[in-house]
Amino acid sequence: MQRGYPHKEWALLRREAPVFRYERPDVVPFWAVTRHADIITVSRDPGLFRSTKYLFVTVDQEGAPDDDAVILRQLLNMNPPEHGAYRKVVNARFTPRAVQKLAAQVEEVTAEVLDSLAGREECDFVTEVSAKLPLAVIAEMFGIPRSDWSLMFRLSNSMIAPSDPEYAGTRSIKEMVEQARLEFFQYFSQLVEDRRKTPRDDVASALANGTVNGEPLPQFEMLSYFALLIIAGNETTRNAITGGLYALIDHPDQMRLFKQNPSAMVKPAVEEILRWTSPVIQFTRVANADTELHGRKIQKDDILALFYPSANRDEEIFEDSGRFDIQRDPNNHLAFGIGEHFCLGASLARLELQSMFRQLAERFDYAELAGPIQRMRSSLVGGIKHMPIRYRIRPSTD
Ligand code: HEM
Repeated sequence: MQRGYPHKEWALLRREAPVFRYERPDVVPFWAVTRHADIITVSRDPGLFRSTKYLFVTVDQEGAPDDDAVILRQLLNMNPPEHGAYRKVVNARFTPRAVQKLAAQVEEVTAEVLDSLAGREECDFVTEVSAKLPLAVIAEMFGIPRSDWSLMFRLSNSMIAPSDPEYAGTRSIKEMVEQARLEFFQYFSQLVEDRRKTPRDDVASALANGTVNGEPLPQFEMLSYFALLIIAGNETTRNAITGGLYALIDHPDQMRLFKQNPSAMVKPAVEEILRWTSPVIQFTRVANADTELHGRKIQKDDILALFYPSANRDEEIFEDSGRFDIQRDPNNHLAFGIGEHFCLGASLARLELQSMFRQLAERFDYAELAGPIQRMRSSLVGGIKHMPIRYRIRPSTD
């Protein structure tokens, strides 16, 4: 997706073939599901549409969807009742109420990140701002020391965009993912050992000492859980921050409106940023039985890819869906998915985004692009790797 999301093509699919069979030599055949209502139908029925190792469709996929060769065994490829039992291990730490307790800390990290822009007029907004906040927040929640944050950043990039030449160099996709997983696992094994000896009040301790059906988590599932939370918390929120500022720069009327009253406007603005940027491109499901979706016959074991950014522009749900409107109400976007696998980190992501965009609106006198943006090559996350901006920022008010 180096040119950004194919919104024109998705609009065509929504209109002409909302459940479309995609077959090409280099990709495992799948159904592209592009309408809001159909994505809800599939996501809410994990009995009929299971999650498998095929988290998302991409080139270079091999094997049967359920073979044992999974890279990570974690929530996203588990099914009920196992899925619920695993989700319970950390769920209490991600509820809206639990997350609200982190508000002051998140505000502080946001201010610190933005302070680092003072005294200059240009920066790479991705590496200097968007990447820093989600990483700092999730690492704090895990109790990972600052000196190791850059390692987490590098490894999660490798897992999520192994085909991107900036991250891969000359290595193959498989080598990249395998190497990153190994390094993650080595790091987390030590963390687990430490938190078993001396538990603290952090997510790492909850996982290290957690149980599923009365038993400690098996090692592979436990290390996979660590990796999932670090990756999921990082890449997505980062791209909502970058894409959100890009959208505001691209729509100066909305930026002006937002700046008039950032505190009052921030909640709907963040929801619109989530709808507009929709950082996750797709997750897949596999049919458990022959069935029908939107008039198409789906066969047992067929793969369905749920295209969230397309659902979020569905003309039947969103009035004037191609308009970026920070006051949009209602805004029932599916950026966090829906149903059984609804994003565990949604409240945390919202908190981070609200903190970031309120402070940006208060502190940036202006911001504009200072060069072309560079996108990440990935069929899972619509990522921006670099976004040079020119800006003027006010000092922090507190
Ligand atoms: C803007 C930011 C984010 C977006 C757009 C996003 C999006 C999503 C989506 C689309 C799903 C899958 C839904 C499905 O398959 O039905 C998901 C699942 C998940 N997300 Fe997020 N996410 C974000 C931030 C976070 C954060 C900050 C965390 C923190 C730990 C997180 C952790 C997870 C986990 C663990 C799952 C798997 C849940 C399950 O399978 O039960 N996400 N997210």
